[in-house]
Amino acid sequence: MNSLSTGPVELTVVVPCYNERPNVRPLVEKLHAALEGIDWEVVYVDDDSPDGTTAEVRKVADNDRRVRCIRRIGRRGLASAVIEGAMSSSASYVAVMDGDLQHDETRLKDMLAALCTGKFDLAVGSRHVEGGDTTGLSSRWRHALSDGGIRLAQAFLPVRLADPMSGFFMLRRTEFEKLAPLLAGKGFKILLDLVMSAPGKLRVAEIPCRFLPRVAGESKLDVLVLAQFAGLLLDKVFAGLLPMRFLAFCAVGALGVGMHLAVLTAARDIGAIGFAQAQIAATVVAMVFNFWLNNSLTYRDTRLRGPMLWRGLLLFMVVCGLGAVANVGIARTLYDTNGTGWNVAGATGAIIGVVWNYAVSATLVWRTR
Ligand code: GDD
Ligand code: MN
Repeated sequence: MNSLSTGPVELTVVVPCYNERPNVRPLVEKLHAALEGIDWEVVYVDDDSPDGTTAEVRKVADNDRRVRCIRRIGRRGLASAVIEGAMSSSASYVAVMDGDLQHDETRLKDMLAALCTGKFDLAVGSRHVEGGDTTGLSSRWRHALSDGGIRLAQAFLPVRLADPMSGFFMLRRTEFEKLAPLLAGKGFKILLDLVMSAPGKLRVAEIPCRFLPRVAGESKLDVLVLAQFAGLLLDKVFAGLLPMRFLAFCAVGALGVGMHLAVLTAARDIGAIGFAQAQIAATVVAMVFNFWLNNSLTYRDTRLRGPMLWRGLLLFMVVCGLGAVANVGIARTLYDTNGTGWNVAGATGAIIGVVWNYAVSATLVWRTR
């Protein structure tokens, strides 16, 4: 065994991945070509993908010490995967790159060169500066989404960033280390999170970049991811005044009320059951609907699956049932005994119900604390 220490590598490329098995080997080969002459490593952060991405990375690593893998169990989330990969690095620089070959790895050297001048804190592979392009966005709908998101984000950004949605960037590891505790760590937009969390203005170098079409596997971006993005912006704007989860929980609750009323109206129009039965049916439907939405959105990162899903639904219904009892009880006491006004008593009961539902379901159903 050679025990000679040569110090850490110069660059860690963090690759968050979920179901990217066929893309692993090609990407490693491309990195070898693109990073010739640099001491680098790649860290795959895989959320225990069912397609066996981790096994594939280990297989490649058998013959290549530049390749590492963090296998996360029971977790999901792009941003948190990136943070954990970066925090496993001891290199001077950390790059973040998708594992699906959509990012142009030949730009890594330019990013590194920009940072090495000492004039920049962050290098971003940008599709929206001269020489960059977005041909890889799969549809017109993706283009529109991307443009809208960019405009929305730019309104809140402390620095100019032509492509704030990019998932391809590089910075000094010590800088990442400094910012990591400040990050929201939710959702898809880790770059935005970094830029918005930095106490001062980061000096940004934008490196023109192509965004290539995906060849294997599929994109994980969906409408719920976008909702999370809106949540991230809200979270940053309110500077953590209210936890993002709570806001999401309330938004879901509001949708639940809509669902409840829709079922009630439908029952009246059909006319087969009386009010009390319709109200019960509407309540059950709204609870299931809210559970599903909370599970896929509010608690996306600790989402329940399989048998745990049914247990969670049951618990959620019990918790919210108790919340409703508390809500009605308190509102009634305020109204009857304290002479509080109709609306104020009602609203107080409802708010207490929501806070109860949130606090207890966070602890018992999704076990986030
Ligand atoms: N570990 C982990 N966990 N990785 C994930 C997860 C997750 O829950 N979800 C997605 N990934 C990985 C994918 O496997 C891929 O390597 C990378 O994150 C990007 O996911 P895609 O699903 O390919 O995203 P995209 O192509 O739609 O989005 C790209 O464009 C966005 C801007 O339009 C990415 O580059 C984003 O980073 C970028 O913000
Ligand atoms: Mn992709």
